[in-house]
Amino acid sequence: MTAGDLSAAERDLVEAARQVSGHAYAPASGFAVGCAVRTASGRTYVGCNVENASYGLTICAERAAVAAAVAAEGPRPRITAVAVHAASAASCSPCGACRQVIAELGPGATVIFPLDGRHVRRAIADLLPDAFTLGG
Ligand code: THU
Repeated sequence: MTAGDLSAAERDLVEAARQVSGHAYAPASGFAVGCAVRTASGRTYVGCNVENASYGLTICAERAAVAAAVAAEGPRPRITAVAVHAASAASCSPCGACRQVIAELGPGATVIFPLDGRHVRRAIADLLPDAFTLGG
């Protein structure tokens, strides 16, 4: 899928992810990532990766963006779409931990991310089948 295959709303989300990737704090990896999430309210929230000298404390861009949505809307924002941008890489597929977090607050969400230089659009349920929940 090329950028031209994205809807206007999806392109806006990718652009928001691209812009915030410029704020990433990635001294350890040099791998700057931005993420934008849209909720059912129609609002967009952004986040970038924040690394630390104690490497395991790193926060991915996706979880930073989800945290921003929760902080703004309260505990149960319904995430409908997520876009990821990597400043210096042709591929940036969300990690497993971020898939789990997206699935909990956006079980119906669409995730757009770069893969081999193209945008791909996936349902979170396809990225993380049978996600763990406390629901039953
Ligand atoms: N990273 C993200 O922020 N999102 C992803 O989807 C993949 C990886 C970050 C974590 C770390 O700061 C750097 O990219 C390299 O793994």
